[in-house]
Amino acid sequence: MTVLSRLLLSAVTFSSLVVARWIVPGGRWLDTDGERIRCHAGGITVKKETGRFFWFGEYKTEDMPEGGGVSVYSSDDLVTWENHGLALIPEEGHEFVAPDMIIQRPKVAYSKATEQYHMWWHADDEDYSPLLQGLATSPNITGPYCFVDATAPLGNWSQDFGMFTDRNDGRTYALYSNGDSVEGRDVYLSAFNEEITEVEEVTFRWDKFDLEAPTIIQTDAGYFAIMSHKTGYRPNNVVAFRADDLSGPWSQPFMIAPPYTRTFSSQSGFSLRIDGTKQTTYLYLGDQWDLNSNWEARYIWLPIIVDEETQSIKLAWYDVYDLDVETGEVTPIMGETYYAYEDDTVVAGEAWKQEATFSSGRKIATGIYGNDSTVTFTGIEGAGAKQWVSFYYQNTDDMGFGDQPYGNPDRIGGVWQIRRISSVVVNGREEEVETLWQRDTHKDIILSTPLLLELDEGSENNITVGGLWNGFDYKGADLDWIVVYPPEPTNGCRG
Ligand SMILES: *[C@@H]1O[C@H](CO)[C@@H](O)[C@H](O)[C@H]1NC(C)=O
Ligand SMILES: *[C@@H]1O[C@H](CO)[C@@H](O)[C@H](O)[C@H]1NC(C)=O
Ligand SMILES: *[C@@H]1O[C@H](CO)[C@@H](O)[C@H](O)[C@H]1NC(C)=O
Ligand SMILES: *[C@@H]1O[C@H](CO)[C@@H](O)[C@H](O)[C@H]1NC(C)=O
Repeated sequence: MTVLSRLLLSAVTFSSLVVARWIVPGGRWLDTDGERIRCHAGGITVKKETGRFFWFGEYKTEDMPEGGGVSVYSSDDLVTWENHGLALIPEEGHEFVAPDMIIQRPKVAYSKATEQYHMWWHADDEDYSPLLQGLATSPNITGPYCFVDATAPLGNWSQDFGMFTDRNDGRTYALYSNGDSVEGRDVYLSAFNEEITEVEEVTFRWDKFDLEAPTIIQTDAGYFAIMSHKTGYRPNNVVAFRADDLSGPWSQPFMIAPPYTRTFSSQSGFSLRIDGTKQTTYLYLGDQWDLNSNWEARYIWLPIIVDEETQSIKLAWYDVYDLDVETGEVTPIMGETYYAYEDDTVVAGEAWKQEATFSSGRKIATGIYGNDSTVTFTGIEGAGAKQWVSFYYQNTDDMGFGDQPYGNPDRIGGVWQIRRISSVVVNGREEEVETLWQRDTHKDIILSTPLLLELDEGSENNITVGGLWNGFDYKGADLDWIVVYPPEPTNGCRG
């Protein structure tokens, strides 16, 4: 985003105009100050009086990937986020809210009984041995929150923490996996007391499913509980269960995204229901972790499509979409596609177009490496502005190249490198190299990841992709096609 459009944006924000901007899953998301949004594995609380969204999450920096406390941002439209700093501030030497402690997956609910906002999270030490739930309260939604206690719900362990409030009776529930040891490996759904100061009773237990990162959406007909498998910070195929009642019986789990996409390289954690004037929309709010640098993790927010007939849910992947929180409408943005197999796409050095039955033109550009072995998409129409470009790629490092540097996570004892990094240069402007992270996919799986690029006006743009150092190698991922989106509107109203 240019300084000008950022200024324009904040000016517009204050004048109560709703800025039309888009949700771009996996992009670098900036706040209204133009800073990276640092709000991981959290949840969104809607302030009743104003309808404003408050997003709480783990604050992470390169120097402080854990123990940074809980940040809070607010927005009226889920895209323009204002930073309110830390809602829960770590203190050196504190028993639980300290830089060397685990403060994960925070969620906030308003307690009518205490007239305070209650923040709950997974409170732990570095060894994940206490496995507790922390509570802090504040009269102000943005905090600062004051620590109350860290407790074991009904005497049980509690790891990945989620929270859910039922629309029918307003009761709030805690969701938590109870650790990885053989005595644990369950996920609990437990009701809080009315004050939201204590877990009161177990409503349901998913016995020995060994899942984590739970969240629940409530439709008019029932409930879907969404959770991930346990592969640490590597993504996997997230599943959902369905029930008419929170106490069950719950269905068998089923996948919510195409198999082997590993839920579009994301982990579940939260979900949001938007009751629009035209439609009800459910959002999946996932984290795209990168275990090499989790402080740079991205956000994968996608509409959840509810099929009432089959009583199942699926995530809809859109590179770029508009979400109108007033009407609830989701509008995918259309872009222009340029394929790697086309003659207009030029390979240089050792890069070449290899037969691939699963790719769009039965050919995929491979061998992208360093500065010399590159792929250039040419004849690209540009608007003379910053535009989102989605790169559809395959990164097969999970095929394994022996033990090091790449290993196969689908193989016993395998390790996972998780990403390649490509360089992206527009119109030969090598002084403005952009870095494109291409997380591990799977053989035969094409996923996309976006970058905001400055294109010149006209149809003579080209985009050159090479390989950058990822800690092990200069390989770029294989490329199938790119989609160039129109510039994001930075003024005007929605609807
Ligand atoms: C709550 O916020 C308001 C304004 O944002 C401020 O005036 C007040 O001091 C805050 N209260 C507390 C307890 O932090
Ligand atoms: C959970 O708590 C119940 C009741 O105290 C106890 O019987 C059970 O062993 C606990 N389970 C775990 C995994 O801690
Ligand atoms: C690419 O070019 C840069 C700048 O000239 C150089 O530092 C780097 O080593 C090159 N990388 C490869 C893999 O050739
Ligand atoms: C890309 O554009 C630049 C600037 O116009 C030009 O110098 C370069 O030759 C182009 N590269 C290809 C492969 O078309």
